Parts: sequence; C-alpha cells; structure tokens
Amino acid sequence: MYEHDVIVVGAGGAGLRAAIAANEAGADTAIVSKLHPVRSHTGAAEGGINAALREGDDWELHAYDTMKGSDYLGDAPAVETLAQDAPEETINLEHWGMPFSREDDGRVSQRPFGGLSFPRTTYAGAETGHHLLHVMYEQVVKRGIQVYDEWYVMNLATSDEPDPNDRECHGVVAYDVQSGQIEGFKANQGVVLATGGPGQAFDHTTNAVSCTGDGHAMAYRAGAPLEDMEFIQFHPTSLPSTGVLISEGVRGEGGILYNAEGERFMFEYGYAKNDGELASRDVVARAELTEVGEGRGVNDEYVHLDMRHLGEERILDRLENILHLAEDFEGVDGLVEPMPVKPGQHYAMGGIDVDENGQTCIDGLYAAGECACVSVHGGNRLGGNALPELIVFGKRAGRHAAGEDLGEPEIETGYGDDVEDETDADLPVQPGAAGVGSSGDVAADGGVATGVGSLERAVERERERVDRLMDKDSGVQHAEIRSKLQNAMTDYVNVFRTEDGVKKALSIIRECREEYQDVYVDDPSRTFNTDLQQTYETRNLIDVAETIALGALVRNEFRGAHWRQENQIRDDENWLKHTLISWDGGDPSIFYRPVILEGEDKTYEPKERSY
Ligand code: FUM
Repeated sequence: MYEHDVIVVGAGGAGLRAAIAANEAGADTAIVSKLHPVRSHTGAAEGGINAALREGDDWELHAYDTMKGSDYLGDAPAVETLAQDAPEETINLEHWGMPFSREDDGRVSQRPFGGLSFPRTTYAGAETGHHLLHVMYEQVVKRGIQVYDEWYVMNLATSDEPDPNDRECHGVVAYDVQSGQIEGFKANQGVVLATGGPGQAFDHTTNAVSCTGDGHAMAYRAGAPLEDMEFIQFHPTSLPSTGVLISEGVRGEGGILYNAEGERFMFEYGYAKNDGELASRDVVARAELTEVGEGRGVNDEYVHLDMRHLGEERILDRLENILHLAEDFEGVDGLVEPMPVKPGQHYAMGGIDVDENGQTCIDGLYAAGECACVSVHGGNRLGGNALPELIVFGKRAGRHAAGEDLGEPEIETGYGDDVEDETDADLPVQPGAAGVGSSGDVAADGGVATGVGSLERAVERERERVDRLMDKDSGVQHAEIRSKLQNAMTDYVNVFRTEDGVKKALSIIRECREEYQDVYVDDPSRTFNTDLQQTYETRNLIDVAETIALGALVRNEFRGAHWRQENQIRDDENWLKHTLISWDGGDPSIFYRPVILEGEDKTYEPKERSY
C-alpha cells in the first residue's frame, strides 16, 4: 500500500498542473499514470493556448467568444474564470521556460483561431502541447513530486453510502504494468482524476490509443454523474487514413479549404460568410461533410486544405510539424500540394460533473482537464481553449485537493437542489450493467468498493477480477468488442445524428456489454500485459460510449456540435440545461441542471450564432 496526501491520476497537462499546485500548497503529492508523463496525449496538442495578453484584447472578449462558441451552454463562472486566469497562467509557463514562438520584436506570437474575435492563440510552432508537457514535467521533477508511471489505475476506492453526495473517495487501486503487481494508493486528502478524453470510443479520431475514458468511467461507476456527454467535437482537419490531426493553426495562418471543384466552399456556399475557414469547428466540420454528401468531396470522402501560398519560409517557421505529419501519414508534400482532410473525433466537451474547484459530488474526488466538465466549453469548444483549461482548472483542483480555500463554488454538482427534472427517455434497450456476476466481468457490480476500509476491499476486488480474467481460457477478445463499439459510434453518433441511428448505436452498445461478459485475456503473462489493460479500458469505453449515445438521444435539438435531424434548431426554451447521467448501481438515470448564464457583471443572453 502506498500513501500520499493527494493522488493525481494521469500525467497530461491537467495532471501535471494539478500535482505542481498541490505540491506548492504543501501536500505530499504523487502522480499515478499509465504512461510516462511526456507520452501523455497532451503532447499531441498542436495549435495553442488562448489568453488575452495584448492591448486591444481583454478577458471579457475571450469569455464572450467562449460563451458564443459554446452555443450558450457554458457556465459563466467557469467561462469567466478561464478567461481571467489564462493570461497569468500562460505567462507563468513562459517563466518556466515554455519556448513560445515569437515576433521579431521579441513578443510572444499570437495567431487567429476559429471563433475568436481577436488573434489570441499563443503557440510553440505546431507542437505546443509537446513543449507544454516537457516544461511542466521539468517542474514536477524539480519539486521531487513522486511519479508512478506505467501504473494503470483500475478503480477508485470510495465508500458506498446510498446517496453519492454522501460518499468519500479514499484512494485508487492500480496495476503496475512492469510487474503485474496490484496495489492500493491511499489518498489522505484527495484524488484528482486527469485522465483525458474518451476518443477511442470512435473509430476515426485524432486521439491516442491511450484515450479510453478511464477517469470518466471510474467516476461514473463510483457515483459522480457525467455531464453533457452528447457534445463531441469533430475536428475539421484530420488526415483521412489515420485521423492524425492537422492543426487549426494552418487555417489560422491563412490555409484555405477547397472542395473537389476547387471552390472555397466556406464562403462560396455561405457556411460562414464572415469568417470562412475560421468559423467555429462544429460549423466547418458540418460544412465539409455537406460538401462530400452533395457530391463535391474529393474521392467522395474528404476536402483539400491548401497552405502552399503561405510560402516555404513561413510554413517552416510556424507549421513545420504539419509538413512532417502530412508526408509521414499521407505521403503528401504540403509545400507543393494540398492536404486531404476530413472531420475526426477530437474532443469531449462533456465529462465528470465538477465545480470551479474541480470537486465532484463525492468528497475527496476531483477531476480536471478533458475528463472533467466544469462547464467551460458547453456545446462546442473553441480551438485553443483546451490547454488553458488544463492549466487553469488543473491548478485549481490541485490547490483545493491540498486543502486551500478557494471560496464557495457557484456551480453545483451531483443530484442537488438545482436539478430540474428527470426524463423517461424512450430507450431501445436497457442501458447499464449486463450479466452482473459473470466470471469475465471486470466491474459489473458498479465498481464501488464497499464498507469501512474501502481501499483494502477495492484492492482485493481488483485482484480477484484479474485472476478471473486470467484463469478463463477462451471467450471473446476485447479487441473484437472494441472495434464493434468504435464502428457503431462512428456510424451513428457522428457529426450528423438521427434518432434511429442513435438508437441503433445504443442497441449495439448493449450487445457489446453482453459480449463483454464472455471476455477473456489471451496473454498469460503477468508483466507488460497490454491485453489485460486494454480489456479493462474496453469496459470503460463501453460505459462512456453509452452515456454519449444516451445524451445524444435525449437532447432533441441542434446546439453546438450536437446536430439532430428531427429538430434542426437550437431550442433555448427547453434545452438551456445540462444533461447529467448517473450510473445508479448499473441502472443509469438522466436528469438536468440549468445552465448558468449570469457572469460577474453581465448576463450572457443567447444570440443567434453565426460566423
Ligand atoms: O487544431 C489544433 O491545433 C487543435 C487545437 C485544439 O484542439 O485546441
């Protein structure tokens, strides 16, 4: 058994920032991560960090752009905190040695990004996240923060009171990938989940194979609701064959999108008459797929992104990484030909329901970064707003978990007083746990450790689960189930959604859940057993995918990244509210909480959103 004050799960941008903050607040802090920190998916972030740093810009403009981008589903206290704190946090990164790209006069460069009214995206070439990780990892090493890397966190240890609002989190159970040892990590003050996104629930994604929604699923099964899961961002420029990201920075620098007819369709067909390629991502992704659907796509699949006119010098200075990605993954030389691009799953706007301090409704359980929903991004995240979210809210979660008083949060969590109603959705299948108690099942009982000494119990439970999985010598392999799930999500819960399609996805997810009862681990080794780890991850993906599909089914309106064929209008009268889904011991329920549009000095009145 290991013991620390604060345990941070995950070592991407949010996890590292949370750990540094908790350490600075005096807590004995440790990071437990399935990857070495600098291999975390934050390293794939290319574009940049939005922060109002220059004359002519201010945090109010940043907050307004973010709220408009969110299609008025962001909570104002969170949106304003992001915009207010981003400049200081960005300057702090600079002081830690972040190699930001610079102007000739020495100022940190900023470029335009989609949906911004001011060019406020700071960047380090087209590999901003890579540098961010290295800079923060240096700070972790400098402070002597203990890192348990290549330890896969299998579950949380929480108490089991009937009402999740009364539960406490005592630590986590983790599997040492190198040795196969399963151990408990006791957290005296708090556990901060910073496990990133669930992109692997989809077949075509910019996300790494490590993005399996582990934190989402563990928190959900422990009793913390997941919020606004239906809002999935599809990035307009991913490479068709692999999903590898081509940064919005290309369009920020002046890159142009063309259809197969050579038309600059964003303007030509009126998708975004003012901002064209720099409209918000949801708008551009829908435009691209409409072009393909109406027969103007290249090879009936994608469109072209052209940056040749920017010139070799500028491309090499600001976008060199893009040249390598296009060449390595698509065999295209971006200096002499346009690059093929299409929408790919990129980001989950929703996540674990938390307040401004990163706290969930479970005492001692926090979440920050992509796995959390505070909610800054609402229905659609603006490019360049993920990295500031990591550092601003990672820091807050770390400080609060370490016992610092950050004031009363305005945002509620859990099933509280502000909850509006519950829904009786017309579901095609019963969601939730299947075949509780089956030998292959990893956490069919909901994964909540019970009783006093919940950590010891949780450790025992995971050891028994691993033994069961390893003892079984035939059945279904997780990869088959995962691929079926990914295809269903990509086919039916993509950019354009229909009620029938989402219901079909839910039925397939149910099949995946049932097949999972017969899952087995083929690799008999106790060391470096990625088969075992991925079997756990696949279970997490099933639970998270189901919440995405459930949210997409009940939200019968068109807001931000969520488009529904049956109701193609934003319905503010009925839907200015967050969707929350709680696991409820394997019988998920859906409820709603109103969005907070009252900011410090103003109310963000929902307006028609055009670019
Ligand atoms: O396009 C990009 O560089 C991605 C940035 C982001 O998702 O914020």
